[in-house]
Amino acid sequence: CHLISISDTDETCLVFTKLSFHNAVVGTGLNVKLMLYTRRNPTCAQGVNSTALGNLNVTKKTTFIIHGFRPTGSPPVWLEDLVEGLLSAEDMNVVVVDWNRGATTVIYSQASGKTRNVAKILKEFIDRMLVEGASLGDIYMIGVSLGAHISGFVGEMFNGQLGRITGLDPAGPSFNGRPPQDRLDPSDAQFVDVIHSDIDALGYREPLGNIDFYPNGGLDQPGCPQTIFAGIQYFKCDHQRSMYLYLSSLSENCTITTYPCDSYRDYRDGKCASCGRAPGESCPTVGYYADNWKDYLREKDPPMTKAFFDTAEKKPFCMYHYFVDIITWNKNVRRGSITIKLRDKDGKTTESRIDHQPATFQKYHQVSLLARFNQYLDKVAAISLVFSTGNVIGPKYKLRILRMKLRSLAHPERPQLCRYDLVLLENTETVFQPIPCPKLLM
Ligand SMILES: *[C@@H]1O[C@H](CO)[C@@H](O)[C@H](O)[C@H]1NC(C)=O
Ligand SMILES: *[C@@H]1O[C@H](CO)[C@@H](O)[C@H](O)[C@H]1NC(C)=O
Ligand SMILES: *[C@@H]1O[C@H](CO)[C@@H](O)[C@H](O)[C@H]1NC(C)=O
Repeated sequence: CHLISISDTDETCLVFTKLSFHNAVVGTGLNVKLMLYTRRNPTCAQGVNSTALGNLNVTKKTTFIIHGFRPTGSPPVWLEDLVEGLLSAEDMNVVVVDWNRGATTVIYSQASGKTRNVAKILKEFIDRMLVEGASLGDIYMIGVSLGAHISGFVGEMFNGQLGRITGLDPAGPSFNGRPPQDRLDPSDAQFVDVIHSDIDALGYREPLGNIDFYPNGGLDQPGCPQTIFAGIQYFKCDHQRSMYLYLSSLSENCTITTYPCDSYRDYRDGKCASCGRAPGESCPTVGYYADNWKDYLREKDPPMTKAFFDTAEKKPFCMYHYFVDIITWNKNVRRGSITIKLRDKDGKTTESRIDHQPATFQKYHQVSLLARFNQYLDKVAAISLVFSTGNVIGPKYKLRILRMKLRSLAHPERPQLCRYDLVLLENTETVFQPIPCPKLLM
């Protein structure tokens, strides 16, 4: 049979269904294959079903991975990395739910119409696991796009007792505006976390979980093509970014910190830098470890939190947030943007342009700007600032700074850096060495 390949250890491995664009045009009937990976068979999937659980050890956590709509029939490119990342994070069972036959069609509504049936098959499988001694709290589902709603349907069949559901850019089309029973919602599991990365096209706009993460506001993701000339990437890059952000939590060195906030705009304006918890407590991180904040997030009324963060264009996506506090003494109000560059003693630099909207500088008022850098520099040796009003012609304005202060959000315990009495000439870089801020003046 063409679905089976032989590995070099002579075991037969189940492989993910490969289909072609031809299949997508003709359409496919539903067929669900469950592929089990464990630390005993981390790269060679074992076929399991509700009569044969194979290597699945019911005393361990079981993570289901459920893909979405497959308009070209190809296997998801991220699948291997996700399986590997999960197995390295924890000794668990990973079950890849291959419903490529069913999801592969050029007609989206044909795929979305099969989601309830996929959920029923998973319900049957989990029922068998329970008979063998599994507990619902140890079951985790990672659902991508349509897979997120499938996870929700399964969760509802178990009255919200599943341990966790992660929705990765849950599908919007045919689900937007539907009541909770027809889509993923926070009551579908003990903890539901969602990443929204394409809310203006393929993804779901509104919150669906206990915590809903909106990278870059949930709209256009940096590094994704902005025009249709980029081909298929134009359509799926934003949507897939949710998966790559999740993967980076498993594989990368940096953790992506997020900021609970009412809106992306408030986040960019720096209004959401404290996480509303006791001082020193951290903000939620996105991805696999988001459930560390489970108890805190579930206690809220309603138990739903929106969290925002910006990312870099590519792996590892992390950005490091600082506040730049500026007090000016110009007689007249000045409006403009600030670009700040940091350099360490080895010459490594990182830059942040704070230009999403002009800041307003008033005499003796402190303005706190949220600066986001791609790199974290351990010891900042020099800072450069550029002030710009956006004027190309006309007089060059000056910004007279009484004090500037740089403080890290990720590491609030690190010394804050200060500089006093600076004059920035518009569009001209001013470089200086910062000094540790005196403690008393904080
Ligand atoms: C379940 O899986 C076992 C082992 O792969 C196979 O022999 C059996 O036919 C399957 N049963 C069903 C109902 O698919
Ligand atoms: C199942 O896992 C438990 C602990 O996680 C372990 O003690 C047990 O030996 C495992 N069973 C098998 C058959 O590997
Ligand atoms: C990973 O983290 C360690 C310790 O924090 C650091 O020294 C190292 O440079 C990091 N590696 C990468 C690739 O970022």
